[in-house]
Amino acid sequence: MTDELKKRISAAGQEHLLRFIGQLSPEELTAYTEQLAGVNWEELPRLAAEYVLNRPEISIPADLSPAKFFPLAPADSDMAELYARADAKGAELLKNGKVCCLTVAGGQGTRLGFDGPKGTYPIGPVTGRTLFSYFASSIARAQEKYGKPINWYIMTSPINRQATEEFFRKENFFGLSGENVFFFTQGTMPAFGTGGKLLMSSKSSLALSPDGHGGTLLALRKSGALDKMIADGNEYISYFQVDNPLVPVVSPRFIGMHALEESEMSAIMLSKTNSKEKLGNFCVSGGRTMIIEYSDLPDELAEKRNADGSLAFVAGSPAIHVLSRTFVEKLTSGGTLRLPWHRADKKIGCLDETGTYFTPEEPNGVKLESFIFDALPLANKVMILEGDRAEVFAPTKNATGVDSAESCREMLTARNARRLALAGVEIPRNNDGKVDAVIEIDPARVLDDEDAVGLVNALGLKKILAGEKVAL
Ligand code: UTP
Repeated sequence: MTDELKKRISAAGQEHLLRFIGQLSPEELTAYTEQLAGVNWEELPRLAAEYVLNRPEISIPADLSPAKFFPLAPADSDMAELYARADAKGAELLKNGKVCCLTVAGGQGTRLGFDGPKGTYPIGPVTGRTLFSYFASSIARAQEKYGKPINWYIMTSPINRQATEEFFRKENFFGLSGENVFFFTQGTMPAFGTGGKLLMSSKSSLALSPDGHGGTLLALRKSGALDKMIADGNEYISYFQVDNPLVPVVSPRFIGMHALEESEMSAIMLSKTNSKEKLGNFCVSGGRTMIIEYSDLPDELAEKRNADGSLAFVAGSPAIHVLSRTFVEKLTSGGTLRLPWHRADKKIGCLDETGTYFTPEEPNGVKLESFIFDALPLANKVMILEGDRAEVFAPTKNATGVDSAESCREMLTARNARRLALAGVEIPRNNDGKVDAVIEIDPARVLDDEDAVGLVNALGLKKILAGEKVAL
């Protein structure tokens, strides 16, 4: 390790990181030196002061207003005509191979408490099909429907990259062509102890964690994913999170509206069920769209009502986006992108003074992450379209309770039941209206309501029995 690097580390107030270097093997020392050389030591004291020793002040702009959005049901005949054109435009873009999918799967899924990449979690209510399988099968069906291969970009972290790729190989890419599935790895950030000192996960490594889904944009550039998109003629990126198997992997209307409105970054919004619902709020300030996190929106704004009693700040974000490839190119053109950091207080396993690893009982450190939605204010045009919650959003954050695997499975059954009912199948329901069965449909067979009709006809399905567990 050069004296120069050591000096930079000391000047940043982090000389404790050099404590154990005398005990390392030559290979360990080389790897550690490489890791340390990748840190921006000159910026570190500012990050520690701003985000760790102090909490960043959240300043709510005085002119903050609710963002405008296109409602689920068209408000008038002009809008109905626009939606019809968007449906056609989205389908045309898909048929011409202009759309690719992007799944962010680099998170650590700590709340779910599942050992392994979250995408390998068995979410299927009957078969235990995994989250990755849902997306892969939906993409397979979309390819068949629109007659063009759809590239699928999957962002992992350095921690789960290998396990993710191995899973795909074991599953034979779920029948997709390996050529169309592109894995890429996001960046990392060193974790801080609450006193501002970086934590170590071993004597030869910092405690690193993925740099948040905001890291996607730069990782697309650095990994060569953008180059592949350009080479393959992909112009629109359909972005979704790994924990939401309900999401339409490609939505012709959403993609079409993005293109017709000449948006650079678009978003699906859901009408919040209450003022405190834990969704980011779509807002506008100075003509720029932004998301204010639920925890940062002052009560008087969260509670503010329109004349008809509805919430003024009603638009919540389920993290479903379409981005223009050219927008990502523009943002990352210099090979850098500075999105704001967000602080998260976490329990971080690390070495103590003596070099012994321990797992804390209480949060002992700070992780810094950037968020993809912080790219919204950087877009010249943003299009927001209302989504139907029951059709698009079933996040699997926790094992039980709200936003859990349990609630997600219920929503999958409810959506399948609705589709089958539309196709004329009799569905058993409890007194409270809940489906009295567990129903799974292979996404490789049914992408949308139209497909459900085809499947029901092909199977000659008339009814589902009470208490039945069905996988179609
Ligand atoms: P979450 O914010 O829910 O985080 O990520 P998480 O890491 O999955 O779960 P917890 O908070 O530890 O329980 C939302 C989406 O963003 C991805 C996740 O994989 C998920 O699809 N993500 C998050 C990344 O790809 N990289 C990150 O650094 C963070």
